[in-house]
Amino acid sequence: MIAIAIDGPSGAGKSTLARRLAAQLGYVYVDTGAMYRSIGLFALRAGADCGDEESVAALLPEISLELAYEDGAQHILLNGEDVSEAIRTPEVAMAASAVSAHPSVRAFLLDAQRSLAARQNVLMDGRDIGTVILPHAQVKIFLTAAPEERARRRYEELAAKGQSVTYEEVLDDVRLRDYNDTHRAAAPLKAADDAVLVDTTGLTFDESFEKMLGVIRARIGG
Ligand code: DC
Repeated sequence: MIAIAIDGPSGAGKSTLARRLAAQLGYVYVDTGAMYRSIGLFALRAGADCGDEESVAALLPEISLELAYEDGAQHILLNGEDVSEAIRTPEVAMAASAVSAHPSVRAFLLDAQRSLAARQNVLMDGRDIGTVILPHAQVKIFLTAAPEERARRRYEELAAKGQSVTYEEVLDDVRLRDYNDTHRAAAPLKAADDAVLVDTTGLTFDESFEKMLGVIRARIGG
């Protein structure tokens, strides 16, 4: 099996680029952020304190996650409910960031993510794929961009969906999530030693795509 690990901070264009690359290569795309977001959503709905590990850990036995693919697009099912849209709000993003700091949540998802990679070629994106989940991935890319550019992209995405947020709020969120993701004790966001760094600041989507495809082809051919 071939595994491609793509890690990096939020808003670097990871999921859009990863989805397109997976389609191009004929690999299964696994968006691990959607898994953390689904747990965050479940915890929010349950009225739990997302920052409190014990409260969140107590909910895990009630959670079942499944990935389904429709026309190549990943849908995530939380206890059978398609929550693919519901998890894309700033509120759920913050909840995901909080629950992802808990070792019990990370352990809960580790097996699920590894077993997805054991049975098919995957292109998996997240924060700790190259460092923790798939340390033997044939290709590792650490994708990043300046915080202001990442905030601008996310702001445009949210505005297009009609969500009422300001650019400043989005930038604050990006900075806070960066801080949380890089400073947590459990699997903090950092590039694997053998990851190739790709910075998309100032690059168009197509330029970023070509750059990443070049890195992948240099490693696995094709
Ligand atoms: O990529 P995203 O914005 O959908 O991720 C949501 C949150 O989940 C983010 O704060 C980081 C966390 N996350 C993680 O800790 N590990 C992963 N492999 C993927 C996401």
